[in-house]
Parts: sequence; C-alpha cells; structure tokens
Amino acid sequence: MHLPNLKEAKIRSNKEVKYLEASNIKSDKFKNKRYFLKTYGCQMNVHDSEEIKGILGNLGFSETNTLEESDIVVLNTCAIRENAHDKVFGFLGRVKHLKREKKDLIVCVGGCMTQQESVATLLKEKYPFVNIVFGTHNINDLGKLILDANNKQEIEVYSIEGNVYEGMDYVRDSKYSAWVNIMYGCDKFCTYCIVPYTRGKQRSRKIEEIIREVKELKKQGYQEITLLGQNVNAYGKDLKEGYDFATLLTKTAEIGIPRIRFVTSHPWDFTDEMIDIIAKYDNVMPYIHLPLQSGSTNILRLMGRRYTKEEYLTLYNKIKERVPNVSITTDIIVGFPNESEEDFNETLEVVNNCKFDGAFTFIYSPREGTPASKIKDSVDIKIKEKRLQILNEKINEYSLMHNKEYLDKIEKVLIIGHSEKGLNKMCGYTETMKLVNVDGAIDDIGKIIDVKITATKSFSLDGEKVIKVNN
Ligand code: SAH
Ligand code: SF4
Ligand code: F3S
Repeated sequence: MHLPNLKEAKIRSNKEVKYLEASNIKSDKFKNKRYFLKTYGCQMNVHDSEEIKGILGNLGFSETNTLEESDIVVLNTCAIRENAHDKVFGFLGRVKHLKREKKDLIVCVGGCMTQQESVATLLKEKYPFVNIVFGTHNINDLGKLILDANNKQEIEVYSIEGNVYEGMDYVRDSKYSAWVNIMYGCDKFCTYCIVPYTRGKQRSRKIEEIIREVKELKKQGYQEITLLGQNVNAYGKDLKEGYDFATLLTKTAEIGIPRIRFVTSHPWDFTDEMIDIIAKYDNVMPYIHLPLQSGSTNILRLMGRRYTKEEYLTLYNKIKERVPNVSITTDIIVGFPNESEEDFNETLEVVNNCKFDGAFTFIYSPREGTPASKIKDSVDIKIKEKRLQILNEKINEYSLMHNKEYLDKIEKVLIIGHSEKGLNKMCGYTETMKLVNVDGAIDDIGKIIDVKITATKSFSLDGEKVIKVNN
C-alpha cells in the first residue's frame, strides 16, 4: 500500500520521467457486465475517463448510465475546491446502499482527490466497501487492479511517479471533437492550488507522439482537437529537445484538422510568437481561455501567479490587437485570504477593462497542504459571497454584450449533437466557442455548417442553418 504524502511532492524534481507504452490489458472476464463511471472536475479528468472507459471496455464491460444496473462503479474525482469533495462523499453514500444489495459490486475511487493523504486515509477507515483506490499516476494499472480485485480494500496511489504513457486505448466521448493531452501535471505551484500535488510535476509528451495522435484523429475524421494541459504555454520546457508550444501549435495546425483549440493558457508563459501563430493559422481557433484569478497585483503576488495587473492587461490587449475577432474568457477567484475591498475593486476594474466573453468565477477554497491554506483569513464569508454576486453580474453583462454582436451574422458552427432546447434543434459551437442552438440541421452532426444567428442570450445564441443554393 502506498499512501501519498503532500510534503513529498516538492522534492520530486530529480526523478527521471519514463516514457512507456500503455499496458492495454485485455480479458473477457467481465463479458456482459456493466460499468457506471462518474467524472468530476476539469477536462483533464474528462479525458482520463476516456482512458478509463478504454480500460473497462478491454476487460469486457459495457457502459450503463444507471447506477443500480452496474457491476462496477468508478468515480473519477476532483479536489480543486471543498464542494468537489462533498459531492463525491455524498455519492458514495448511494453506492454504499447498492453494495448492501449487490455484494459482488466492485467500487473504485480514483482521480485527484485520492492523491490527498487525508482522503486516502478516510476511505481506508470509513469506506471499507470501496474495493480499489487508485490515483492520477497509475490509471494505466487500473485494469490489473480490477482483475485482481477481491473483497479486501486495495489502495494503490503514488505521490511521486512521473511516467508518461503512450498508446492508450481511449474510448472517446465524441467522434468529431477530441481531447489530446500534450502534457501532464503542473510546475507553477500557485499558492491556492492543489493541482501540482495531485497531478505531479510537469511532464510534456514527446512532440512526435502528439503529432502521430493528431494525424490518426484526422484520418478518423475528427473535425476538432483540443490540446490539453494545465499550462499549455509551458509545453516542452521540461524536454531536452527544446520544443515549445509555438512549435507544437504550428506542426499541429499544418496537419490540417479543421479546428484546433487549446486549454489552459497561463499568462506568464504566453509569448508573442504564440500570439502570431494563433493569428496566422485559420484552423487555430480565435478563442483563448486566459485565467486572470485576481486584478490586484498584491493578491496576484500572494497567489504566486508571476504577473502584475498591468502585465496581464498588456498581454490581453496584445492578443486582442493581433488576433482578429478573438474571444477571451477567464477564471477569477474572489475572497483569497485577506482580499480587501480595494483588491476586489481592482478585479472589477480589470473586468470592466477587458470585458471578457465569459468567466468561471469561484470563492476561494482552502486546500490542505497548499501555502495559501496556512494564511489566517479575516474576511467574512458573507462578504465573499457578496463579491462573487457583484462579479457575476458584471461578467454576465459582458457575456450578453458580446453575444449581441453576433445577431444577424453568419457563423461557422461545428454541430455536436441534439440541443436541450427541443427535439428538432441541434447545437454546436462557433469558432469563438459560443454555444448555438440551431434549427434545420438535423443531419449535420459532426459537420461545420454556416448558421445565421437569429437571437442572442447571455449564455447561448439561436440560429438557423443557411441553405446554400447552387447555381
Ligand atoms: N491550470 C489552470 C486551471 C486549473 S483549476 C490555470 O492555471 O488557470 C481551474 C480554476 O479553478 C483555476 O483557474 C482557479 O480559478 C480555480 N481554483 C483553483 N484552486 C482554487 C481554490 N483553492 N479555490 C477556488 N478556486 C480555485
Ligand atoms: Fe493550479 Fe496554477 Fe498550475 Fe493552474 S497554473 S493548475 S492554477 S498551480
Ligand atoms: Fe480537479 Fe484535478 Fe482537474 S483537482 S480541476 S480534476 S486537475
């Protein structure tokens, strides 16, 4: 049994990263059995779950969306904020009931939460019905752990592994839009953030492997790929070869997939060359998620973000000037320890300046083991909630303002599936990542079509398919 230790995380840097082939164990032991997989957290976890689906499929399982029908339950957890924890433990209550009726049910808990020592310990002491506890560094071993599962709890979580696996049998959620990991982990250690501890140090994939995967996705007919990493702009900094994100973006664009996206960008690593490449290639989408976190230089320093308010604004304006029609979204945390009214007003000032297309906003949540969690905080939660509300009103105002600019325009929309707004409606995304509900596009899933925007709302657009007349 290996229990993770957050303190170890800081002293792992000398460890050599190994590049290995995925094991892709195949067996028909669980033929006709079903799995229920629940994913929490960010795109990284969503894509890890595509790997988990591949592993479960290789063991003979098929998927069910009904918990009660399942023979194995896998929870892929997130640790970014406290409410993520609460959701997982709430759900485990339901699983516990089911396990009473179904003694053979295999219960697995993995993901970022289990990388925390306290969570692994809690699962051990209070949730003995959980059969397998695995972490973010050994997803590749899940097949073996399941084949070996018995009625004892197995905790297999590593804190300092740095291996990069290639050739996983993913079961991708979409046939049109694919996630492509370009790196794992994060070296930034923002003082509030648990990710560098749960995901380990930055490990970039070799550029040849990424290119090979993208070429294969193109062959399979994918219309869109999203290059995935906690800090994509730092891609390659840990490799001897000297590649950077600009090189990777160029090489990927030249493969000719119609749409290339990337998340997440860190302002500190964003270079002018990267901006020029985004502007140069038509198939690199004019959409950038550029987390601000705070508009106060004072708070940014305490957060360890490595840029000032002015530097963020300079980068933001440079991107806006050089990339035509670019849409920029952001992440903002309110209520970092001791954030003053003045600090918060500076955040509002940056928001008013940038007029973001959209933003994810959060109240700061102390995470065990992070430097910020040790700061004594004097700000009342009521004040934090009020700040979040004021911020959200501003963010929504600007989202609507941007959406209104689309009225009557013709946009290229990649149709991804049926809309929640009605049986005859489809939905998809513009190049700038605006969600559009589209009339008259029933047979267009997986295609990029011209759509005329007919109505605008805060969080989506309505439109109708433009019928091309051949003459
Ligand atoms: N790698 C990305 C985002 C990672 S997590 C980046 O650097 O931007 C996604 C978002 O969650 C962060 O951008 C931040 O806004 C938020 N977040 C991270 N830790 C948090 C915490 N302890 N409390 C509240 N929000 C947090
Ligand atoms: Fe967390 Fe900062 Fe890394 Fe993003 S860059 S994952 S916020 S430590
Ligand atoms: Fe959550 Fe882990 Fe992502 S903590 S936000 S699932 S990297």
